[in-house]
Amino acid sequence: MASFQLGVLFAGLFLLILWGPSGACMYVAFSAGLSDNVKLQANDKLRYDRVTTNVGSALNATTGMFTCPQSGLYQFHVHAFPIRGLRLWMSLYLKDIPIISVYAESQSSGGHSVVVFVNKGDTVYVAAKVPSKMYGGSNDIYTTFTGYLISPYLN
Ligand SMILES: *[C@@H]1O[C@H](CO)[C@@H](O)[C@H](O)[C@H]1NC(C)=O
Repeated sequence: MASFQLGVLFAGLFLLILWGPSGACMYVAFSAGLSDNVKLQANDKLRYDRVTTNVGSALNATTGMFTCPQSGLYQFHVHAFPIRGLRLWMSLYLKDIPIISVYAESQSSGGHSVVVFVNKGDTVYVAAKVPSKMYGGSNDIYTTFTGYLISPYLN
């Protein structure tokens, strides 16, 4: 094999290592909401049925859990609107530890955001702290969960 061809081969391998599936820095962004009312018992995870965006497929709509595919700095937003006359109190959990909470009662919306380091494989989800009743309608997506990678953590 000519040295030129070897050079091309090694350059290709180098690029594959740099940008290949395992080493690649991926985009991660999701947004999901409720298109119907949901009643949760304490500790129940909120499963958002209306997935608007799921780049990287890290949010599992069946479980409501985000499983981090790329270590890095993430931002999460949780907004919730209760069913009229009722209340909600929920937290965003990172590895089963509550890091921010949202409380709201009748006709008022609650929401918080956080920027946090998340490691690959860590789970993030929203769960009720007390029995909670969230409002949702097919054209009324007030209760939402959004998350995205701000910056990958390359180690
Ligand atoms: C979502 O989680 C459920 C339950 O663990 C699992 O059966 C399903 O395969 C997951 N879906 C995706 C798209 O990973």
